[in-house]
Amino acid sequence: MVKLSQFISAVALLSTPAFASQACTSFYNITVPGAEVLNITSVLQSNVSTPAFPPGPTESGLSFCDVTVVLTHPGENDTVTTEVWLPIVGWNGRFQATGGGGFLSGIGSAELGPAIAEGYVAASTDGGNIGLGIGINPAAFNSDGPIPGILADYIYRSVHDMAIIGKAVTKSYYGKAPNYSYWNGCSTGGRQGLQAAQAYPDDFDGIMAACPAINLAEAIIAIEWPYIVMNNDKTAPSQCVFNAFLNASIAQCDGLDGVKDGLISNVTGCDFDPYELVGTQVQCDGTTVTISEAVATVYRKILDGPKTSSGDSLWPGLNVGVRTDDLYPGDAHTVTTNGTTIAVPFPVGDEWVTYFIKHNSSFDTHSITYADVADLFAENVKSYGNDSSNDPNLSPFQKAGGKMIVWHGLADNLIPPTGTLRYRQKVEELLGGTDAVNDFWRLFFVPGVSHCGGGYGPVPTDPLAAVVAWVENGTAPNTLPAQYVDTSGATVNHDICKYPLVSRYDGKGDPKVASSYTRADSFGPAS
Ligand SMILES: *[C@@H]1O[C@H](CO)[C@@H](O)[C@H](O)[C@H]1NC(C)=O
Ligand SMILES: *[C@@H]1O[C@H](CO)[C@@H](O)[C@H](O)[C@H]1NC(C)=O
Ligand SMILES: *[C@@H]1O[C@H](CO)[C@@H](O)[C@H](O)[C@H]1NC(C)=O
Ligand SMILES: *[C@@H]1O[C@H](CO)[C@@H](O)[C@H](O)[C@H]1NC(C)=O
Ligand SMILES: *[C@@H]1O[C@H](CO)[C@@H](O)[C@H](O)[C@H]1NC(C)=O
Ligand SMILES: *[C@@H]1O[C@H](CO)[C@@H](O)[C@H](O)[C@H]1NC(C)=O
Ligand SMILES: *[C@@H]1O[C@H](CO)[C@@H](O)[C@H](O)[C@H]1NC(C)=O
Ligand SMILES: *[C@@H]1O[C@H](CO)[C@@H](O)[C@H](O)[C@H]1NC(C)=O
Ligand SMILES: *[C@@H]1O[C@H](CO)[C@@H](O)[C@H](O)[C@H]1NC(C)=O
Ligand SMILES: *[C@@H]1O[C@H](CO)[C@@H](O)[C@H](O)[C@H]1NC(C)=O
Ligand SMILES: *[C@@H]1O[C@H](CO)[C@@H](O)[C@H](O)[C@H]1NC(C)=O
Repeated sequence: MVKLSQFISAVALLSTPAFASQACTSFYNITVPGAEVLNITSVLQSNVSTPAFPPGPTESGLSFCDVTVVLTHPGENDTVTTEVWLPIVGWNGRFQATGGGGFLSGIGSAELGPAIAEGYVAASTDGGNIGLGIGINPAAFNSDGPIPGILADYIYRSVHDMAIIGKAVTKSYYGKAPNYSYWNGCSTGGRQGLQAAQAYPDDFDGIMAACPAINLAEAIIAIEWPYIVMNNDKTAPSQCVFNAFLNASIAQCDGLDGVKDGLISNVTGCDFDPYELVGTQVQCDGTTVTISEAVATVYRKILDGPKTSSGDSLWPGLNVGVRTDDLYPGDAHTVTTNGTTIAVPFPVGDEWVTYFIKHNSSFDTHSITYADVADLFAENVKSYGNDSSNDPNLSPFQKAGGKMIVWHGLADNLIPPTGTLRYRQKVEELLGGTDAVNDFWRLFFVPGVSHCGGGYGPVPTDPLAAVVAWVENGTAPNTLPAQYVDTSGATVNHDICKYPLVSRYDGKGDPKVASSYTRADSFGPAS
């Protein structure tokens, strides 16, 4: 493996670091406009292992120069730490900035490890720590909500600063700026990538932004909605009962795309009616449960998404085909103990309502009523509409020659994929339609896949590689290779077509191989 030889060469080179323009010691002259650099440290790291996130294979035997830059924006009470890892040998000439998740602006070593193993210089930022772990960081808030400078770091500034730092450190270490710079992130990381394309079109040549947490002002209420529904209807179904609805919806809608593969590909064509399950008996948690009308109502409301008390839709809900708990406990998370089930909110939605909207750490989100929802939504849009990373004007990014791939799991259990579709439609309206936008941004909706992976469908295998090929070779991807292991244990290759095209089964080949599908504008029978 490359990694072992990389390590052996690294050991050989430790005593003779002259292959780089300088040793891993001094990066003293980095200037970041608008910021004051407080501290730069660099440490040579040898034979390091990194964890994987989401859980997967770990990286080991990594040797790199580890540079940490701490800065502040004077007067804004923030401290932002950016870490850059520079491979000692085998640099591929590229820079990769990596993104965060939830309230974290960066994931750190779990994203840096895989990137440098492929030869990238890689960077991660803590974005001023608006969050710590899965929750918010109380120190980033005052009685008016988030400290504005730290919010700015989280929303847009820390990624821009990271791009400047990453490129400068690269030039300083290798004596040569990166040939190409890339963004790679999912969830918050997907939002950060789109935000960079909107606000700093020259920072990255290529952007891979998955399951983006854009439209935050609207999506936050959609994220909290299932919890509000279960509390107000005083009905919290167990995850097993949720799965009964999932199974029934798959049974009904799997075939809409011409192939029975256990996936709902045509989500909009799936007219699933949860009430048809009322009275059905399912085996759950060791007992027989009869599906009640109340439970069907909860399921219906969750799929519908947040509404005003007069029934007008505020934002789309999760899609039919969502597995509510998957990889991560989702927006419709419940916990069943001794036969009693309670609803558990997704922390990002819950803490956002508490700290960003209510500015009250003792606010009880359990007390939110249906009548409160429209006001909460309006208040959030008023306060954070400008922080939603959904500016459709990608024209400067296009003019700069940037290329972008976005994919979103249709079975995302945290962020309604329809929000990504709405953003795409706004961009197309502004920039001249589907083909014009496809010149620089291609979008892929992935059936059966949850938030950043997981689910039960084909997960894109290396979407960043597709961005790199597009940027460096001009090969614009029409399909994104994706793979999963189906319920029978078979490996299925099923390429994902670029929006608005779909991948249609040819009706005769092996449905487990990608070549049995063609690109089409509908799932209907081939003409
Ligand atoms: C640091 O960079 C600034 C601006 O690029 C330059 O004027 C200055 O000479 C540099 N200082 C050192 C010590 O290299
Ligand atoms: C810079 O960071 C290092 C490592 O955390 C620390 O030991 C050092 O005191 C810091 N220096 C300054 C000037 O803050
Ligand atoms: C590298 O680290 C691994 C695991 O920590 C260890 O087993 C191995 O002996 C180390 N290799 C060297 C050359 O130090
Ligand atoms: C920064 O912190 C100081 C001291 O805690 C406080 O007086 C000031 O209002 C803060 N500024 C901002 C922008 O939060
Ligand atoms: C980067 O550019 C240099 C020339 O400046 C070239 O030698 C090298 O192969 C390029 N690397 C990549 C990955 O394109
Ligand atoms: C749903 O289908 C899965 C996979 O076939 C099965 O394991 C599970 O028991 C089903 N759940 C219910 C509630 O029927
Ligand atoms: C999805 O199904 C609906 C209803 O059958 C159909 O009208 C629509 O064309 C389908 N969508 C695609 C992309 O085939
Ligand atoms: C569940 O039931 C068991 C046995 O009756 C009991 O020991 C346990 O405390 C109960 N757990 C909860 C959370 O109520
Ligand atoms: C904060 O929320 C708690 C619980 O809902 C409430 O009792 C309290 O009055 C609120 N505080 C403020 C300042 O609104
Ligand atoms: C949002 O941006 C617009 C246009 O720049 C500005 O007029 C408005 O005050 C901003 N709203 C907030 C809440 O910052
Ligand atoms: C670009 O195309 C060449 C020739 O087909 C290929 O060898 C190379 O791997 C491609 N580079 C990328 C980044 O896809």
